Amino acid sequence: MKTIDDLQVAGRRVFVRADLNVPLSDGTITDDGRIRAVVPTIARLAEAGARVIVASHLGRPKGAPEARYSLAPVARRLGELLGRPVAFAGDTVGDSARATVAGLADGEVALLENLRFNPGETSKDDAERGAFADDLAALADLYVGDGFGAVHRKHASVYDLPARLPHAAGGLIATEVGVLRKLTDDVARPYAVVLGGAKVSDKLGVIGHLLERADRILIGGGMAYTFLAAQGHEVGDSLLQEDQIPAVRAYLAKAAERGVEFVLPVDVVAAEQFPDLSAKTPANPVVVAADKLTPGLQGLDIGPETQRLYAAKLADAATVFWNGPMGVFEHPDFAGGTRALAQALVDTPAFTVVGGGDSAAAVRILGFDEAAFGHISTGGGASLEYLEGKELPGLAALGDSE
Ligand code: 3PG
Repeated sequence: MKTIDDLQVAGRRVFVRADLNVPLSDGTITDDGRIRAVVPTIARLAEAGARVIVASHLGRPKGAPEARYSLAPVARRLGELLGRPVAFAGDTVGDSARATVAGLADGEVALLENLRFNPGETSKDDAERGAFADDLAALADLYVGDGFGAVHRKHASVYDLPARLPHAAGGLIATEVGVLRKLTDDVARPYAVVLGGAKVSDKLGVIGHLLERADRILIGGGMAYTFLAAQGHEVGDSLLQEDQIPAVRAYLAKAAERGVEFVLPVDVVAAEQFPDLSAKTPANPVVVAADKLTPGLQGLDIGPETQRLYAAKLADAATVFWNGPMGVFEHPDFAGGTRALAQALVDTPAFTVVGGGDSAAAVRILGFDEAAFGHISTGGGASLEYLEGKELPGLAALGDSE
């Protein structure tokens, strides 16, 4: 992969594909980690005299403008973090984008509106995506790919655009790939993986792959209940993907065969109702053994016994990868498991990697010092697909194998 050092950027229009898909609540950014992660690349290009055109998606609008997915708040925050003004274009390839880019002087920065406001960005039709990529290419002279969180998407700005312009990888992508290689090429053992989040179906691919590589797999979050059900336990009203039970059973059997330790919650924090996340009113949580859930109760976090068990399983690991919260950490009654897990990563001497939008945001929202972790990835799906061994379109387009 070429890097920014291989490009002559002074006086040139440089398109930077970033992943500025940050969580927002009523127009306020609740975690700016992804913005901060790409600031060094943008600052470096600007300082080298480039005219920097930053572009990203935000959320999943359906190919048309939607006010709640506007990148305008992100432009303001980016400007604050960069300490220089960021011009904001009200569209992607229209009059506003063209005028904004034409108005850039050397060393100035602009942000385009959400790329997914144009149906060409995510189209499955190569010609439609290609046409949008042509329009984006007309805005710039060079392309820098630095949106690690989106490299698993075969989208116009990620995959088609770099084929149309001289291109290089930004510093964030180089760092992310360097860290994930440590987990795939020559991992220090014992290698423990903690997987959480809501859905088992999102994680099956990576679990299948990890069964060949990891020494221990710890399961938390909503997906744990499908594992508990696969072991024959009643899970009450907890989140359950019944159709995934056969696949989960097959994985548990394979893990036993291969000597991979699979660790499931032994107790959970449950409530009668899913909590109101905006009001944060008390949810009357109760701690129950994982095999004692009853109808009318739903598990919403791992329990205190499980917190201790998981910390012990990480204490003597040499490498830890963690993706997905242990519970509904957005509500204080169900944040204990995710907080304890993050603390266990801080306490272990292992090389620790936090992968994923939600777990990375959780670590910051819960007040942990980012420097206490080996690496906090900006990519959720992207880091999982990398670990699965899949070819990622956005990395292939940058010449990952070169
Ligand atoms: C993410 O949040 O994982 C990335 O920004 C990709 O977003 P997407 O899943 O909507 O493509």
